[in-house]
Amino acid sequence: MKAVVLERYGSPEDLRVQEVALPEPKRGEVRVKVHASAVNDWDWSIVRGRPYLYRLMFGLTKPRTRVLGMEVAGTVEAVGDGATRFTPGQRVYGDLSSGAFGAFAEYGCVPEGSLRVMPASMTFEQAATLPHAGLLAWQGLVEVGGIQQGERVLLNGAGGGVGALALQIAKGYGCEVTGVDKASKLEALTAMGFDHVLDYLQTDFTATGEPYDLILDARTTRSPLRHLRALAPRGRYVSVGGDVARLLQAAAMGWILTKVTGKRLAILALEPNEGLERIGELFESGSLRPVIDGPYDLADASRAVARFGAADHVGKIVLEVA
Ligand SMILES: NC(=O)c1ccc[n+]([C@@H]2O[C@H](COP(=O)([O-])OP(=O)(O)OC[C@H]3O[C@@H](n4cnc5c(N)ncnc54)[C@H](OP(=O)(O)O)[C@@H]3O)[C@@H](O)[C@H]2O)c1
Repeated sequence: MKAVVLERYGSPEDLRVQEVALPEPKRGEVRVKVHASAVNDWDWSIVRGRPYLYRLMFGLTKPRTRVLGMEVAGTVEAVGDGATRFTPGQRVYGDLSSGAFGAFAEYGCVPEGSLRVMPASMTFEQAATLPHAGLLAWQGLVEVGGIQQGERVLLNGAGGGVGALALQIAKGYGCEVTGVDKASKLEALTAMGFDHVLDYLQTDFTATGEPYDLILDARTTRSPLRHLRALAPRGRYVSVGGDVARLLQAAAMGWILTKVTGKRLAILALEPNEGLERIGELFESGSLRPVIDGPYDLADASRAVARFGAADHVGKIVLEVA
């Protein structure tokens, strides 16, 4: 079978399409014929081996995870011993970030617990965009952020995979939503339905005097104190990810600042696939529509990952495998 293989840390050019052995499902795993995958921050970080901290997880000198791809949509093709949830032919999707990866390939063996049955009306390309970014948006806004009807919400890094889905979830709560990203994406953000848009190179959203009830930040670059400044009384700031030093600062100071100010600073620790059924329901009701960049052929994985790194995309970059 064909797979996109990474032998060393470096750049997207190190991703090579190769013939590799068809994987056999271990106990509790199923083999999925991959139809589509999507590019995520993990893929970009593993390709470069940066931040260096990540090498503790992915291999100190070279990547242990040779086949990237942590969002998968496909059909179950074979079932390993002890795997009971799925039968061959079922259409499934899931977030493989808790260990398996391997979706940039024609077939992948994954623990059955990382998969859910796809809603009938969903295409494979759509399904590949939802498990990771959809749940970062859902868990960030709803479960950690406690979003309420009609609130003023700001999404920082609004043009990426999380932003496009978070907008639709927030709109479902009747919120007024501001999106922050670079100037070239603002027209697309307005067309997607953001009420207000800000160019982060021109405007510091923590310095406008505009108070937000809830901020979801996919690109944390500022100090916790600056974020507090942008919050309304009892406002909540939830970081989904960003600069490692800033995240450590937020983790260290968040608890005490929350106690002292009555505003809340939190960092989301994603629980992969927890609540994916809810994302599927939102899709089926028509309230959640993935924004797709591509699809790109599996053979173009290197170009797709480079595009993610350059942040030229709006929404999710999708790889079409079969
Ligand atoms: N919490 C967890 O458990 C967990 C798990 C996995 C991943 N994550 C994190 O979740 C996030 C996923 O976000 P995503 O998939 O939406 O990323 P994405 O697709 O890369 O989108 C990020 C957007 O932010 C923009 N941006 C860059 N710098 C910015 C700045 N200073 N201010 C505002 N916007 C900026 C980028 O555009 P330009 O660069 O062109 O400006 C891009 O449009 C990542 O941070 C990832 O590390 C968290």
